[in-house]
Amino acid sequence: MSKNDTVDRTRGPELDLSTSIAKDDTALVIGLISAPSSEDDAEPTLVIAEELLDDAQAGEISAALTALGATGSHGEVTKIAAPASLPVDIVVAVGLGDTADAESVDKIRQAAGVAVRSLEGVASAATTLSTVNLPAAAEGLFLGAYRFDEFRSDKTKPKKSLPGQITLIVDAKTKEAKTELDRAATIADCVAIARDFVNTPPSHLYPEEFAARARTLGAKAGLTVEILDDTELDAQGYGGIIGVGKGSSRLPRLVRLTHAGKKSAKKVALVGKGITFDTGGISIKPAANMDQMTSDMGGAAAVIAATILAARLDLDVSVTATVPMAENMPSGTAQRPGDVLTQYGGRTVEVLNTDAEGRLVLADAIVRACEDDPDYLIDTATLTGAQMVALGTRTPGVMGTEEFRDRVAARSADVGENAWAMPLPAELRGDLKSRVADLANVTPHRWGGMLAAGLFLKEFVPENVAWAHIDIAGPAFNTGGPWGYTPKGGTGVPVRTIAAVLEDISSNG
Ligand code: BES
Ligand code: ZN
Ligand code: ZN
Repeated sequence: MSKNDTVDRTRGPELDLSTSIAKDDTALVIGLISAPSSEDDAEPTLVIAEELLDDAQAGEISAALTALGATGSHGEVTKIAAPASLPVDIVVAVGLGDTADAESVDKIRQAAGVAVRSLEGVASAATTLSTVNLPAAAEGLFLGAYRFDEFRSDKTKPKKSLPGQITLIVDAKTKEAKTELDRAATIADCVAIARDFVNTPPSHLYPEEFAARARTLGAKAGLTVEILDDTELDAQGYGGIIGVGKGSSRLPRLVRLTHAGKKSAKKVALVGKGITFDTGGISIKPAANMDQMTSDMGGAAAVIAATILAARLDLDVSVTATVPMAENMPSGTAQRPGDVLTQYGGRTVEVLNTDAEGRLVLADAIVRACEDDPDYLIDTATLTGAQMVALGTRTPGVMGTEEFRDRVAARSADVGENAWAMPLPAELRGDLKSRVADLANVTPHRWGGMLAAGLFLKEFVPENVAWAHIDIAGPAFNTGGPWGYTPKGGTGVPVRTIAAVLEDISSNG
């Protein structure tokens, strides 16, 4: 296994458009819409492409599903033997929920994700979900078909694969349909880049290696790439990145990736937290669940993937990702609680808690990113446990300048990542005062921990920049079972939110 296999390959099933089932398809995936609850004994409705099935076949499928108790509730999967007159062996019905659900784009994506995960051992399948909403079905199928088995030997590699081939049934194979399909594949491919990064263990992904992989992928997508090593970071005054990274034998890096739009294009700066492992440093974390801190570079992974996506979609916007990478370790060379460091640009910070390290590396990167005079700045980070206390594990918190914050939240809702707007209450700012330095890296209390981190970052953002900070502590890494199109482990959140914002900016300024 070469080190770069993980991130280099294009993955997932081949998706084809067709007006009929292909001859080697062995399963047909259909949607099932639940009956309104007011009609107790009404049967769920099949979502089948017209002319794909005749009345007798549809009736037979419907009767079998009813006999098995299928209701069409969202995400329900029911498998039946196919009518003998159909070319496939099985029919898989996936619940789309009620008619309102079936019109929600993300519910369709989620149902498609559930459906594809149920197709273990099926080599080739056809689906009519594409007749409901082609881009949503395609995106859900691609995102749901993701697996990460890079570190399994044959002993535990899954015996049954997911389909290598899926036929998307459409009324007509138009050019628009092909474009929508390509776009979905490109988006899902970049989400997979972010997921792969997060899923790669800290033994294999440390700052130097992370930077090298970002360079390889970035160059392949036509981005310009610049990497500062620890010596350059030190010489140029990146005190936050150096301070956090100096407890580790694996030294920090700062990666800059640029996708150039046309001359008149808006400039967007992206910044993502790239802590390849967060032990907490000298303010060490408890042992329980510390392994999950392999995901502490989820923000970095997302901004790298989103910049590659901007290039692959050829968006007319200039994007530069500024990505600090460090490993937060306790050792004889680590920073201490009470140390004072000088951030890039000259501000001093008293490090009262070495586990609040994300904001230190981000502050350096934000100051550097804003030297380029961006119109917009989006930073994203697995920044605070408090994000999960406030919003749970699936809902990112978004803070920043109000108008842009709300725009980011709106685009995030569009793509189903659902970041939620949160305030930056002025009264908490006073609690970041330091006895000795310009600023302390933590408040003396637990209240509003996500917002306090946002207020810390705000100190480094110039007044004239529209800014959004997305805290993804929970949403970046799924510690539970798979759901919808979200696998276990790295989720790729918020790649699609950032991409949707970039696309919005490229069309509307
Ligand atoms: N990486 C953590 C935040 C985190 C926690 C991410 C759980 C994902 C899951 C971050 O560096 C951290 O430790 N933050 C501290 C801040 C505190 C010391 C103010 C936290 O949230 O406890
Ligand atoms: Zn930490
Ligand atoms: Zn951290």
